[in-house]
Amino acid sequence: MTGTDQAQLRKYYDSEYHYGEDVEKPNLDRLRRSMGHLGELRGRRFLDLGCGVGWATHIASEEGASYSVGLDFAGTALVRARRHTATAGWVQGDGTALPFADACFDDVFSFGSMEHFPDVQRGFAEAARVLRAGGTLLTVVPNWWVRTDQPQELRASERRWRTIAANAGFDVVRVASDHGPAILKNRRPLRVLMRIVLHIVSRIPGLRYQHVLVLRKRA
Ligand SMILES: C[S@@+](CC[C@H](N)C(=O)[O-])C[C@H]1O[C@@H](n2cnc3c(N)ncnc32)[C@H](O)[C@@H]1O
Repeated sequence: MTGTDQAQLRKYYDSEYHYGEDVEKPNLDRLRRSMGHLGELRGRRFLDLGCGVGWATHIASEEGASYSVGLDFAGTALVRARRHTATAGWVQGDGTALPFADACFDDVFSFGSMEHFPDVQRGFAEAARVLRAGGTLLTVVPNWWVRTDQPQELRASERRWRTIAANAGFDVVRVASDHGPAILKNRRPLRVLMRIVLHIVSRIPGLRYQHVLVLRKRA
């Protein structure tokens, strides 16, 4: 991806992406469900990679993380994030070139973001670099059949995501499922119907909506 393509992508998130809706209708239960795989966050050093409007950063702060940092390259998202949680650390930066020292986090969490990085493999390598040995990367990424309207995204089978993780120096602890947005996220009948179908299809082996990858950095 060229510098111009990167700039275009950033412009899309800054001016077109639905951050307003993410603030008004946060899907906290869905986030908490996947964050639950990290266990107790009290006292831990937590990074939310591609944090958007920052709800996972907020949850980690509330749960007593020793520091909770949200990083995103979209300034629009971070302005909204700062409004609801002034106490967290908000950093504008590129997920494939993180502005952090080696081994300075215990946990890296990323929901629906790493698949949009221009170089996904490099994003995983950067997450590994900033984690301490034995630290956890928990990333929620789409299955091969899932489509969103975002301009750049890698969708892949569990097997391919496992390969990317292994190449970046992670062991796979477990892979769980995310079945998509809450059925009643908004009450438009067609949307509700579509989400019901999604939740059913996502339970068929091999067809889960998103993979919840729980990865441990090798020592
Ligand atoms: C689908 S949103 C998810 C946001 C948030 N994690 C959530 O659950 O609501 C994807 C986010 O990834 C961010 N993003 C995409 N490419 C990025 C990159 N190279 N570096 C940092 N953030 C990036 C976008 O700005 C956007 O906020």
